[in-house]
Amino acid sequence: GAHPIFIHPEFDETFGIAHGITPSAVERALALHPDTKAVLVINPTYFGVAGDLESIVKLSHSKGIPVLVDEAHGVHIAFHEDMPLSAMQAGADLAATSVHKLGGSLTGSSVLNVRRGLVSPDKVQAVLSMLTTTSTSYLLLASLDCARRHLAINGEAMNRRALELATRMRFGLAKLPYLAVFGESDLHSSATFAFDPTKVLVSVKGLGISGHLVEEFLREEHRIEVELSDLNNILVIITSGDSEETIDAFLHAMSLLVARYQNNGAETTDHSIVLPDIPALALSPRDAFYEETETIPLVDAVGRISAEFMMVYPPGIPIFIPGEMITADNLAYIKENIEAGLPVQGLEDHSLETIKVIQQSNAIR
Ligand SMILES: Cc1ncc(COP(=O)(O)O)c(C=O)c1O
Repeated sequence: GAHPIFIHPEFDETFGIAHGITPSAVERALALHPDTKAVLVINPTYFGVAGDLESIVKLSHSKGIPVLVDEAHGVHIAFHEDMPLSAMQAGADLAATSVHKLGGSLTGSSVLNVRRGLVSPDKVQAVLSMLTTTSTSYLLLASLDCARRHLAINGEAMNRRALELATRMRFGLAKLPYLAVFGESDLHSSATFAFDPTKVLVSVKGLGISGHLVEEFLREEHRIEVELSDLNNILVIITSGDSEETIDAFLHAMSLLVARYQNNGAETTDHSIVLPDIPALALSPRDAFYEETETIPLVDAVGRISAEFMMVYPPGIPIFIPGEMITADNLAYIKENIEAGLPVQGLEDHSLETIKVIQQSNAIR
């Protein structure tokens, strides 16, 4: 039943990606919506970029508002001083930290960090019991406990090793023309306050090709699997499970890529991205979900209220959610992503030809 107010993330024109939100944007939103119940922040982003979370927490706490952090991509950052501050280090009240993503526990296991104060651990426990199984998996719990122990004892050393390998990769990539790598010099605002260097974001825009094409090239010709690709970039994640050999294999493959496409001309494909504005919320997501719906062609959906989610996954940031008004810009952005071969998904109709929208007569009420 919550009524979400979305804060536009800062957009990076060079890489065509969204970063996090700034304390001043949170301040403006709280001034406009003084009845806010909680602030939810994604930190760090999938690309490893962290905002000034400590300031966001201080600001929200000064108004008695708790801060909830989606820390899906940050289980390891608490364990090395060259990494951004973790959610709990920054003073957050709740942090959902996906141990299974980068912490080595079995898929499906996760940790919800809770700070007693603005949030009641007993209430959290009650809600969790209501929403999740009463038959806890001891396999998952045991794997979480192993991962926790491993991180507590070896997390610093594992991060140190991954950071060393990341430096090797960054040096190697810097020697290749036409590629740009997101790094220290790209941090210039409080939305890009710190970053995790083990996430290596490489823009291939200078070669005039899409990140998706590079993902396929690396998979099919070099048996290398990237974490994700988008219109302009690939994202590579380095862990202590890597070695000099895996880094060098990647650098070799990238040098062959550059050799193949360097005469392509950067201007042959224009992948400049304009992120559409956040659509207006006409109904709360819950009301939209339970409303009477009708299925119409996606191309005719401009001006209608969506009853479904639609996103490019990864990274999974919704283009619109149930209750939002679909705009022509949304549809143009979706078309651009589909044409570039990127994974647009979320609709019940996997062919993406039709969408469920709120019935016109109900929407007008
Ligand atoms: C920002 C973000 N939050 C949450 C999730 C989901 O996390 P989990 O798989 O631990 O539920 C993901 C990716 O899967 C994500 O990218």
